[in-house]
Amino acid sequence: MLSRRGFVIGAAGLVLVGARAPWMHALGTPITIYKSKTCGCCSKWVDHMKAAGFAPSVHDEEEMDQLKDELGVPGTVRSCHTALIDGYLIEGHVAASDVRRLLTERPKVAGLAVPGMPAGSPGMAEPGKEGDYKVVAFQLNGSTTPYATH
Ligand code: CU
Ligand code: CU
Repeated sequence: MLSRRGFVIGAAGLVLVGARAPWMHALGTPITIYKSKTCGCCSKWVDHMKAAGFAPSVHDEEEMDQLKDELGVPGTVRSCHTALIDGYLIEGHVAASDVRRLLTERPKVAGLAVPGMPAGSPGMAEPGKEGDYKVVAFQLNGSTTPYATH
């Protein structure tokens, strides 16, 4: 008979395996998003991700800078919200299409970022009118490489 602990770990394993199973895509790709409660552009980025088939679990935080320190988001790439998906950090108004590409290509980077809050980025611009912003891939030491130009 399984111990209680064994059962819990087993159940967690099922959830992890389930997250990768094709049928889960009907529910969206899970992504964890941390944002400050009062930020409107963060909420609009959440909407952008939902519209692109992601299933965000959203956490309102009091101290975003402290959270970014804990997660290791380098100062050079910081924006408003921070997200976690499949071991990658997503910082700021990154296009959902670039997050999809990241999950497919799985490069050896800490994550993707749109530093600052450029006016043309998803969640900043009107839906459908995004453009004129850049996405970078970054390492925890703060170095960046271009990832996409929109
Ligand atoms: Cu923002
Ligand atoms: Cu935001």
